[in-house]
Amino acid sequence: MDTRSLGPTVSALGLGLMGMSDLYGAADEAEGIATIHAALDAGITLLDTGDFYGMGHNEMLLRDALRGRNRDNAVISVKFGALRDAEGGWNGIDVRPVAIKNFLAYTLRRLGTDHVDIYRPARLSPDVPVEEVVGTLAELVEAGHVRHIGLSEVGAETLRRAHAVHPISDLQIEYSLISRDPEAAILPTARELGVGITAYGVLSRGLISGHWQPGRQTKGIDFRNHLPRFAGANLDRNLALVDALRAIAEARGVTVAQIAIAWVLSRGATIVPVIGARTRERLTEALGAATVTLTEADLAAIEAAVPAGAAAGSRYDEAQMAFLDSERA
Ligand SMILES: NC(=O)c1ccc[n+]([C@@H]2O[C@H](COP(=O)([O-])OP(=O)(O)OC[C@H]3O[C@@H](n4cnc5c(N)ncnc54)[C@H](OP(=O)(O)O)[C@@H]3O)[C@@H](O)[C@H]2O)c1
Repeated sequence: MDTRSLGPTVSALGLGLMGMSDLYGAADEAEGIATIHAALDAGITLLDTGDFYGMGHNEMLLRDALRGRNRDNAVISVKFGALRDAEGGWNGIDVRPVAIKNFLAYTLRRLGTDHVDIYRPARLSPDVPVEEVVGTLAELVEAGHVRHIGLSEVGAETLRRAHAVHPISDLQIEYSLISRDPEAAILPTARELGVGITAYGVLSRGLISGHWQPGRQTKGIDFRNHLPRFAGANLDRNLALVDALRAIAEARGVTVAQIAIAWVLSRGATIVPVIGARTRERLTEALGAATVTLTEADLAAIEAAVPAGAAAGSRYDEAQMAFLDSERA
């Protein structure tokens, strides 16, 4: 697989592990581990997790998957800061220095490693300036526990302030054919500063994968049941966009998911799509996108089918939107 430079050099596609523990309905642990192994075997090096994905479960799953493998071949990206409760609910964000050091200590133990390659706050909190957060992370870099500092869902000005304290390797942000707001200020600022982008929600959590069916029922907690884009008339409108994409995909002999991933890959040499495949079958499809080169004609057809701003509904519900610094910029 091709590589891209974030700060660390990583595979052009990353694997996001979240859905292997949490949020997308019941997950199959053995299949999750098999999917991580298949990703490593295919040359994926960037593995993205969060300490709050399954309240530590996701990190322990990654530790188990890396057992017997060369840990140094993996670039482990960990998010911290989100607070949960026993029911799986969300209790805000804690990015105070003392909390960051505590989160990291638990993460290192759960992962069974002495360092995290990229460590990032999942969200910021208005109580703690970004300078203080990055200053704390810089201390952890100095101590050797963290190799690179990343951010998640911050706006252009916050990114600039953070980067002035310590180099930021990459900003993780939702970016897809139907989530294009970062194009206005965030992507140009990241490019100017030399900060990479790890794009998540590239398939809009499955909505634009070509596999989403109206009325689909999942077992366990499925966060997508609460997302405006998956609800009611919004869903119908968004799936109509997928139908338009399907025609382009079929003409190219590829799948809708591959078009959506290849489109993000085409947006810049320092943008790395982090794909949330939970099974080897989905992973195989995603990997196929790495060799799809979109022509100017393809890109024009995609733009006509899914113009910027075409999606119906916001990308999170109102309560979650309030935590997004990226939406304030
Ligand atoms: N920084 C942040 O705020 C933030 C937020 C969310 C996620 N993330 C990270 O980004 C990663 C990816 O995000 P995501 O899972 O929301 O995004 P995604 O890649 O847009 O969606 C993944 C979902 O799409 C469905 N899908 C259908 N075809 C697929 C295919 N060929 N390959 C992969 N998935 C396919 C799967 O659902 P089914 O398995 O149900 O079919 C899968 O769970 C997460 O794992 C996490 O590490 C970061």
